[in-house]
Amino acid sequence: MSLSPSLFRFAGCDSARLGFSCLVAPCRIRVERMERGHAIHGSGTTQVSAMECGSMSLSRGWVSTLDGSASASAGSAVELCASASSNTVSLGGLQWDVYNPSGKYRVVVTKKLVGDLWLDVLTSRDFRVEVCQSELTLSQQQIMAAMGSRCDGVIGQLTEKWDDTLFVALKRAGGKAYSNVAVGFDNVDVDAATRHGIAMGNTPGVLTEATAEMAVSLVYACARRVVEADAYLRAGKWKNWLPTLFIGKLLSRKTVGIVGAGRIGSTVGLMLVRGAMMDLVYYDKYQNKQFEAKLDSFARALAEHGEEPIRWRRVDSVEDVLRAADVVSLHPNLDKTTFHLMNAERLKMMKPDAILINCARGPVVDETALVEHCRATPTFYAGLDVFEDEPQLKPGLDQLENVVIVPHIASATVWTRAGMSTLAACNVSSVVLGQPTLASLDILPHVNAPGATQVPPTAPAIVNAKALGLPAAAAPKM
Ligand SMILES: NC(=O)c1ccc[n+]([C@@H]2O[C@H](COP(=O)([O-])OP(=O)(O)OC[C@H]3O[C@@H](n4cnc5c(N)ncnc54)[C@H](O)[C@@H]3O)[C@@H](O)[C@H]2O)c1
Repeated sequence: MSLSPSLFRFAGCDSARLGFSCLVAPCRIRVERMERGHAIHGSGTTQVSAMECGSMSLSRGWVSTLDGSASASAGSAVELCASASSNTVSLGGLQWDVYNPSGKYRVVVTKKLVGDLWLDVLTSRDFRVEVCQSELTLSQQQIMAAMGSRCDGVIGQLTEKWDDTLFVALKRAGGKAYSNVAVGFDNVDVDAATRHGIAMGNTPGVLTEATAEMAVSLVYACARRVVEADAYLRAGKWKNWLPTLFIGKLLSRKTVGIVGAGRIGSTVGLMLVRGAMMDLVYYDKYQNKQFEAKLDSFARALAEHGEEPIRWRRVDSVEDVLRAADVVSLHPNLDKTTFHLMNAERLKMMKPDAILINCARGPVVDETALVEHCRATPTFYAGLDVFEDEPQLKPGLDQLENVVIVPHIASATVWTRAGMSTLAACNVSSVVLGQPTLASLDILPHVNAPGATQVPPTAPAIVNAKALGLPAAAAPKM
């Protein structure tokens, strides 16, 4: 029997003890990307005998069994295990993984992130990186304890409240930069960051398509009652094909309404116009000319092929969108102007069989009013990725069949989350190292770089760069 390649990854272990147990030996083990010497013959392929144990020192590496290189009888296994206790520290009851412990600069990361590049960027730029292993939201006290008396930067999360208290503490610790791992930063008091001279970063652009795809998924899930039908089938209730079973709504040639036609809103609009052939209305404080040009050119292309063109218009108010649209997708940033933008009164303006999607921020919708509205109007559907009191839901929301709910995962694709992590790492490390900020939003060279040394030496997205007078760089070429 061939062993499939099984990978065991070591990241940032100062000293990892590996135990190999192989029921049928020998097998070949390959250790890749080793940076320091180790006890089993250096990098490359090595033979490991049955039950042999080795210990190695490395800062980063992969260990894999090579496909087909080992034979084992049925039921046998090769196990690779490691303990790297020396790179895990406990602080205030929380476990922190420490990478590159001798790094010159120190960055605190409040959650485990996705991918390798973000960590490679930080360690290759001489940062000691401490990553909290807890899945719970850290309190301000816990974050302050983690920053301690010396901290150059923090990579934090939208679930944390970054206000004056934390920026004072970061400044006192010698910090220069904070980055959210999110495009939205309604959890951050940017003025407070600026007052204390802290650069505040976010991760725009890299999550546009992923978030838009989730919004569109929710539109289809609501329109075609996917979740209800799935539950029905799993419950063993399906007895026969019936003309009346789970009748949904056809999107084609209906109207989608976009509130907040920025990066994500306009992408959702284009996906539904081009993919589902919907007409479109949109409301935004600002005209999105690029979006409009794309809508026009799609309409022209249809006409050139003898098809009925799609229609679109920009309207003057949210209310105009709500009255006209069969599907309303919300994509503004959360601020005072968009808090409870969708309240009881505005929900009643929508068509009784409309679909409301929220992939922006929970408080953009008055969730209690939405529960009432959905309860009173079973033909109305809502698809929600975000909630007012995450992770709690308002009472009754999860009981409604005409609501599709997912736990704030709109940006949760591998490429997107890895890209967000890399942008956050670049934001913090570049500011600490005095590198310039990126003037345009050309973030792809940062997130698609083949290795850490190819990542441009710029901070890709610093919200208060101008206010702090940080130097700006031209966008790097791909
Ligand atoms: N669910 C998720 O996981 C997820 C992922 C990414 C982004 N988001 C949210 O989506 C938001 C939008 O992201 P983006 O990258 O498209 O940002 P963006 O800045 O490109 O777009 C936001 C748009 O909203 C408009 N706007 C602001 N206030 C408005 C108002 N009162 N009425 C109408 N329009 C208004 C702005 O003019 C802008 O065009 C983020 O701020 C974030 O909160 C959520």
